[in-house]
Amino acid sequence: MAAESPDSTAELYAQHVARNYGAPPLTLVRGQGSKVWDAAGKCYLDFSSGIAVNALGHCHPVWVKRVQEQAAKLVHVSNLYRNEPQGQLAASLAKRCGPGRVIFCNSGAEANEGLLKLARLHGLKKSGVEGVCIGVVVAERAFHGRTFGGMSATPQEKIQKGFRPLLSGFSAAPLNDISAWDKAIDAKTTAAVLLETIQGEGGVFPADPQFLRDLQKICRDRNVLLLIDEIQCGIGRTGKFFAFEYAGIKPDAIAMAKGLGGGFPIGAIWMAPPHDELFQAGSHGTTFGGGALAASAALAVLEVMEDEKLIERVNHQVPVWHAALRALVSMRPDLVKEIRGTGYMIGVILSVDPVPLVTALRQAGLLTVPAGGVALRLLPPLTASAEELAESAEILGHVLREWKVA
Ligand SMILES: Cc1ncc(COP(=O)(O)O)c(C=O)c1O
Repeated sequence: MAAESPDSTAELYAQHVARNYGAPPLTLVRGQGSKVWDAAGKCYLDFSSGIAVNALGHCHPVWVKRVQEQAAKLVHVSNLYRNEPQGQLAASLAKRCGPGRVIFCNSGAEANEGLLKLARLHGLKKSGVEGVCIGVVVAERAFHGRTFGGMSATPQEKIQKGFRPLLSGFSAAPLNDISAWDKAIDAKTTAAVLLETIQGEGGVFPADPQFLRDLQKICRDRNVLLLIDEIQCGIGRTGKFFAFEYAGIKPDAIAMAKGLGGGFPIGAIWMAPPHDELFQAGSHGTTFGGGALAASAALAVLEVMEDEKLIERVNHQVPVWHAALRALVSMRPDLVKEIRGTGYMIGVILSVDPVPLVTALRQAGLLTVPAGGVALRLLPPLTASAEELAESAEILGHVLREWKVA
């Protein structure tokens, strides 16, 4: 696609940046709150949030201050030594997750790698023999990242193509079909199940609360780990800190990333006892994980979420925003089939390819993200104002009203 506003950065990308992200249409140079500006000075309402990352919007003053202060004090010492922010962050996450332990990393895919290694260690403990109990059941349409472990857990041809052979032991069952999972989970050979509470990249498909509760029971009965990927739907996005809280389940381990650092790369896995003892000295590690600067950024996110009561605010604003979005279905039932999702993780489900609409919306000043074939994702920052939420629905209404279905 040709750049919408060509500039010298577009030139540098065209010549030197690997082609795996295609040709991004804009160079964004500045952000504040829910707004970003491109190199030509045009302002956009950013409801992509860097793909569900900027929980506090852009450049929240508290976040900026914490990161600046920590950058001037201590950035990195590796995990050969303790750093204060990592300890505080682990304690803060334990407050939300319950007793247990946390391992830090740098991205979502890495967090899922940690979960998959945990599954292997659990399988070894269960069977007593390496390589016997290595099964991991995932959901059809799942997305768990682009590393070899992540791709193996992502049963999508477009992700896996060209990279086989992948890790063995993975099987996929349809989301919300409990009898299929019941059949797929074998007490002897299955170490874990891994699933997103709301599938994001797959097209905004929520797991039913009852399905999650039934799945938890099967896992407990067969000594299989229930591993939940909250990388996209977690950290307040759905109106609870974790989306699985709606189902009242207690996962054995949780993967987090994206919103946790508010834009600074950090990931984490929390593990419930006794599984938190499976990782012992030498079993896992990363040079950067839980570095002082990244941990400070995450602490700032959690602090602002509490001080500004962001979760309460999301819940307060959701009814009006969702009603405005549902009005799009009545306005263009031929084009907009459904509004799906929870809180600030919304899929506008279309009857057409969402990509041209994402372009038209961007040109009209609203940044959105396509997903899973026919979904257009809206992922506002948790700090978005009522006016900004209303503006997003207005821009959508304006663009969709005129849209010609071929
Ligand atoms: C549910 C889920 N898991 C894992 C990942 C991978 O995270 P990352 O891109 O940080 O590696 C993503 C990214 O979109 C995701 O949505």
